[in-house]
Amino acid sequence: MEIATRPLDGKKVAQQIKAEVAEEIRELKSRSIVPGLAAVLVGDNPASRIYVRSKIKTCADLGMHSETVELSGETTTDQLLDKIDFLNHSEEIDGILVQLPLPDQIDEPQILAAVRPEKDVDGFHPINVGKLCIGTYTLAPCTPLGILEMLRREGITLKGAEAVVVGRSDIVGKPMALLLLHQHATVTVCHSRTRNLPEVCRRADILIAAVGRTALITREFLKPGVVVVDVGMNRVESVEETERLFGADSPRVLETRSKGYTLTGDVHPRDPYGIAAAVTPVPGGVGPLTIAHLMKNTLTACKARRAVFARG
Ligand code: GUN
Repeated sequence: MEIATRPLDGKKVAQQIKAEVAEEIRELKSRSIVPGLAAVLVGDNPASRIYVRSKIKTCADLGMHSETVELSGETTTDQLLDKIDFLNHSEEIDGILVQLPLPDQIDEPQILAAVRPEKDVDGFHPINVGKLCIGTYTLAPCTPLGILEMLRREGITLKGAEAVVVGRSDIVGKPMALLLLHQHATVTVCHSRTRNLPEVCRRADILIAAVGRTALITREFLKPGVVVVDVGMNRVESVEETERLFGADSPRVLETRSKGYTLTGDVHPRDPYGIAAAVTPVPGGVGPLTIAHLMKNTLTACKARRAVFARG
């Protein structure tokens, strides 16, 4: 039976979250409190530069103070630790994010552990990871939080559902699995060594794909009625591959020809239609939710650090 697949509009949910954050910022400003975010960018990774620019622009849109700290690709761990120490002590800064990946010479675990846990709006500090594990978190990674919020607002039941997470990264896969577990889903985490991946994925009522491999998830991975969340953000640079994935008459073919690439997820762009109940598009699905939740985390950090409590 052919199922009418619903696209999940991450952009719309992100707009709602941002509007709510902006409203709270206006309220705080009337009490002379301006939440502030610092973004640290090391080196000149073009994708990281675009992400940071987009995060900073969103701060401005919502009335939040922001600072970008740009450091050369030759920066040492000690130099970066000095910058973080400065931001840890800065009165205007409530949230610090260090854009990943960092250049190879930098000791990434040491850097993530140096950010004050109260300002760790990415939720990457070991203390915040531990709190997420035992369910007492206030700051957790933005992408999984955004996905959870979208599923909640779209009315998708998690309690008792079979959730399969493909990917075990510290940024998405692991925290996503923990958040789903706290919502009483039955959670399976798969990765590159998982045997019979399509078969395991076919168990899913909710399938989260976060591995960074173009169109890994095809129709044989999908149970009819599954909700598919595609976290992948992969570049396809070949016109032939774009044609194969999207169809020869898709506007994506023109995009690949003119821009040199088109963005695709970890899920085949056409296969879920007719099988899945709902699917997030790429782009415009999960991406906007990550930034919206970064704003929300910064607001949360601000209220906690400045001891702002709800009135009434
Ligand atoms: N690189 C890819 N995703 C993220 C993220 O959510 N936060 C940071 N800081 N870096 C990233």
